Amino acid sequence: MTAVADQNKRRLLLASDRSDQSRELAAILQSVGEVESISTSEIPETPARQVSGIVVDINLRSSESVQRVRDKLRGEAYRSMPRLFVLADALHHASMQAWALGATDTISRPLDAAAILQRVRSAFPDSSSYDATDRGMALNRGVEAAHAVVVKIFERLPAGEPLTFDDIVQAEGKIIKAIRHTSLREWLTTVGCHHVESYRHCLFVTGFAVAFAQNLGMREDDQRRLVRAALLHDVGKAFIPVAILDKAGALNEAEIKEIRQHPRRGYEALAAQGGFPVEMLDVVLHHHELLDGTGYPNGLSGNQISDIVRLTTIADIYAALVEKRAYRLPFTHARAFALMEAMTGKLDRQLLQAFRPVAFSAC
Ligand SMILES: [Fe+2]
Ligand SMILES: [Fe+2]
Repeated sequence: MTAVADQNKRRLLLASDRSDQSRELAAILQSVGEVESISTSEIPETPARQVSGIVVDINLRSSESVQRVRDKLRGEAYRSMPRLFVLADALHHASMQAWALGATDTISRPLDAAAILQRVRSAFPDSSSYDATDRGMALNRGVEAAHAVVVKIFERLPAGEPLTFDDIVQAEGKIIKAIRHTSLREWLTTVGCHHVESYRHCLFVTGFAVAFAQNLGMREDDQRRLVRAALLHDVGKAFIPVAILDKAGALNEAEIKEIRQHPRRGYEALAAQGGFPVEMLDVVLHHHELLDGTGYPNGLSGNQISDIVRLTTIADIYAALVEKRAYRLPFTHARAFALMEAMTGKLDRQLLQAFRPVAFSAC
């Protein structure tokens, strides 16, 4: 059964083993795209090129359905698209099972139409208006723009050339577009090739932060605030010796002390430069603060840490864990997320849970 939406923008597969129950969901989804309702046995090995994502509405207690979905979603074609699972209720074990089956996001019954549409709009690419060439161009432009800012930070700033707020603003729109029209995974794959660890890190954090903002349904100007924060958060590392930044082994005490100076060095450089919004200075100075007061440089706690800092900190830590470092292999996404969940009292719990679909969409 295929229904055509008003705005014929996305093509969604709705895989269900209970078509009667999925009717309401199909009706909701039709307002953001063309919905193709199929049974789990009809899930194609390779979906049509224009399919922007799959919505799975199955009985997770049925081992047959679960097996079929697991087998199909393992395929390469599905690994690169959003996979939204519908749960019978919001119970923890159901959502764990969905994540294990490869969900990149979950929704639960009773269905909340507005919330579902917001998530589909932000995560499922708008396929008919963006063909492969446009997507590739958007990705390249975004990566180039972000890279240009990072080069300015690490190469020109220490040489005394000023970095201006305008340098950052010019890159924002291109970065947002790149991730909206391609995917976080494609962004990470492209920037992950960068040979310099510090550059790669800034580009990774930016990708995670933008995808996070888009997943939360933030308006474009709020997305821009987060791009700025992420791109610039480690600006102070430009003043730390490369021998310490890129050291292949563990850092000694003196080196740790030195590297921990980066938030303050970055803050001082931007404050002296002038023209940067206060909240950017806040992120640069405080992105290593933790809610329980054990962070640095000021040992801030709880309400002293702003929302934009909390968001950036989550993207920063997660990116650092899944990046390849000179001294260790990257953690898997599941392990990285579990490590962050174990940081009890240090990170904003609600924000971390909201970050889960973003983290797993990068698998
Ligand atoms: Fe940092
Ligand atoms: Fe960082």
